[in-house]
Amino acid sequence: MSALSAALPDFPWDLLEPAKAKAAAHPDGIVDLSVGTPVDAVPELIRRALADASDAPGYPLTAGTPALRAAIGEWLARACNASGTLGVLPTIGSKELVAWLPTLLGVGPGDVVVIPSVCYPTYEVGVRLAGATVIRADSLTAVGPTPRVKLIWINSPSNPTGKVLPAEHLRKVVDWARERGAVVASDECYLSLGWETQPVSVLDDAVTGGDYTGVIAVHSLSKRSNLAGYRAGFVGGDPALIGELLAVRKHAGMIVPAPVQAAMIAALGDETHVDEQRARYAERRESLRTALVKAGFEISHSEAGLYLWSTRGEDSWQTVDWLASRGILAAPGAFYGPAAEKHVRIALTATDERVAAAVQRLLS
Ligand SMILES: Cc1ncc(COP(=O)(O)O)c(C=O)c1O
Repeated sequence: MSALSAALPDFPWDLLEPAKAKAAAHPDGIVDLSVGTPVDAVPELIRRALADASDAPGYPLTAGTPALRAAIGEWLARACNASGTLGVLPTIGSKELVAWLPTLLGVGPGDVVVIPSVCYPTYEVGVRLAGATVIRADSLTAVGPTPRVKLIWINSPSNPTGKVLPAEHLRKVVDWARERGAVVASDECYLSLGWETQPVSVLDDAVTGGDYTGVIAVHSLSKRSNLAGYRAGFVGGDPALIGELLAVRKHAGMIVPAPVQAAMIAALGDETHVDEQRARYAERRESLRTALVKAGFEISHSEAGLYLWSTRGEDSWQTVDWLASRGILAAPGAFYGPAAEKHVRIALTATDERVAAAVQRLLS
């Protein structure tokens, strides 16, 4: 038996352990800005919905309850400006969907999957799990005419760069993919976090005009609603593709727990908690950004999303070390692709108290 894990890259976070130990030695404790894990409370109305649905002895529906399917469809229509007929499906957070999408779509050896040149590592993990070939490219002209491309991942706003792709760019990707019969998967888990630019969904009428053939959007409630611990995500788009995903996921037991399905309905039906959370991140972003610039960093992109994509013009591991000696932990650009070796990713997901500590350390 050959070990599947052998096909996977090293788990990058293990490489950060020495810097973490150094930062943790700071007398006032570590400020961990290396991971994008929410730290603020789960909104009360969502917790209540989860608790109220806790008597759940039977198997939940893989497709989601009719109420959840309606809530997802209504949210996508509203938040993504999507007026066409959408297929929808809940997922167990979005990371599992990212990691298994190539396999679920039947992509395999000999097929090519295009991912952004600097990106969330799980896109590549998914390609490797499927035994397919990965190409990192931001411009499809660089990919050439190969008919072997079966799937293209885009991610706007981007993790880690915070870059937003305009509607025309998204449309060109969709056109390019359709000419070749490839699927476009658009990871939009930071859609509600635009700062200087309003992010556009691939499902927006300005991009797809209500025809979602070959297109799916991947969404998550982890960042939007502080629900990373609940594992609550969903996909929407081409009804045929979503039907195919459902057919396989039903057999594979990839089912969102019933109480989480109920919590998702509450989260999707309320924008107040989203606005409140946005305001918290906006403040943290402003103080961190100002302090980083004063400390000599340059911030690239970062017009949306949960990160400040920052550089001191040196190798990213050197910058990680510089920050660690001040008790601050950041993620090196090297985690996100070979083209990112001079940046570090600084997350906005720390408490106000820890962000204030980081600011003080950067300025002293
Ligand atoms: C771009 C991107 N996609 C997907 C995920 C996965 O999120 P979750 O599994 O919590 O929905 C993350 C998490 O950080 C991410 O940054």
